[in-house]
Amino acid sequence: MNPALTKIGAQMSNLTGVRAIMKDIIETLRAGAGQQFINLSAGNPLILPEVEQLWRDCTAELLASSEYGEVVCRYGSSQGYAPLIEAIADDFNKRYGLNLSDRNILVTPGSQSLYFYAANAFGGYTNSGELKQIVLPLSPDYTGYGGVCLFPEALIAYKPTLDIDATAHRFKYRPDFSQLSITESTGCVILSRPSNPTGNVLSDEEVKKIAALAAPYDVPVLVDSAYAPPFPALNFTEMMPVFGGNIIHCMSLSKVGLPGERIGIAIGDENLIHVLECFQTNLCIHPSRYGQAIAARAINSGALVEISKTVIRSFYQNKFTILESTLDATMPKDLPWFLHRGEGAIFAWLWLQDLPITDWEFYQQLKQVGVIVVPGSTFFPGLQEEWQHKQQCLRISLTGTDEEIATAMQRLAKVAEEVYQRASVSV
Ligand SMILES: Cc1ncc(COP(=O)(O)O)c(C=O)c1O
Repeated sequence: MNPALTKIGAQMSNLTGVRAIMKDIIETLRAGAGQQFINLSAGNPLILPEVEQLWRDCTAELLASSEYGEVVCRYGSSQGYAPLIEAIADDFNKRYGLNLSDRNILVTPGSQSLYFYAANAFGGYTNSGELKQIVLPLSPDYTGYGGVCLFPEALIAYKPTLDIDATAHRFKYRPDFSQLSITESTGCVILSRPSNPTGNVLSDEEVKKIAALAAPYDVPVLVDSAYAPPFPALNFTEMMPVFGGNIIHCMSLSKVGLPGERIGIAIGDENLIHVLECFQTNLCIHPSRYGQAIAARAINSGALVEISKTVIRSFYQNKFTILESTLDATMPKDLPWFLHRGEGAIFAWLWLQDLPITDWEFYQQLKQVGVIVVPGSTFFPGLQEEWQHKQQCLRISLTGTDEEIATAMQRLAKVAEEVYQRASVSV
């Protein structure tokens, strides 16, 4: 069968960004049967025993309760499972001094779907044919935003400015407010904080400034908080979630051990939440309720916040420390390498300035020494302009053992040294 596809059908049956690289990685792993690879490509969190135990305990409680039948044997509200919505409202009202009601909260099947609803409810063509843009204020950002727009021409990303500490071999991206344009043609703004792929955390002031630029046009700003506090609390630097006005605070339970249950949460103005809820009703009626029921228990008991702070954060922060200290010890001092400041998430982002080959070629050479990372150029969805920096970065996932991360960085340092050396010989 080879059915004719619509424009949307053709586009949505294409893999974008990192998913396309994953295909190459899977084929590499298959073809190299017997060869040991250190695979630091995935964004899949590791299974931490304490976290798994928490979900086992919550499941046991649910199974033993009279609630079980209601959870799995009945349809429910499109907005999400009421006990989970109540648990979030109670917790966030207390924790952040908010005044949320159930009408400010929507639960979705994973947060990826939330960006799909928003990108297409607020971005794309209006009834009068005007194109509303989906603005990513700081590129690089999460590749998944590239796949959620039914009208890809709506996606616009902006180059950041770079804060470079040359002696320390560190750098940090900042939004370039001199370029960022949010106007009546903007449909919505999306950013991740902490960021996948870079671990960057925009300051509270930067987020408020972006929201203030969008507010006069009634443009929603989705702050993707998949790694933010209070859970999974994968911030290694101080940050406060920002609520209110045109901000839709978006969360995910994937990094607190429930990626398989697909739970995303949006908190925002009730009119915005209503639009997204209707989109969801049309698409899938409502998300699965089993994961929501166990999440409600873990939030009400306080265990989810506690385990995030005491187990999940320190686990990944320690991985980042191993990665950066190995690079500091093994990368040649005279090479222009810069590690993005590790402010959060489960990745490290390495910039090899003036890299004599492309990021894709560097990725291939690393595979030759048994190390798999992700070429950085896949993380610039919506950034049309040419920028050599796009081909000079790598995303390294912190999801290996301590030994794997150290060994992989030693091998990477060697490959980098050879690559720059070969280029200087041939000049
Ligand atoms: C920044 C960011 N946003 C959203 C997602 C999607 O998460 P999920 O759909 O599992 O909630 C991910 C997944 O890795 C992510 O890194």
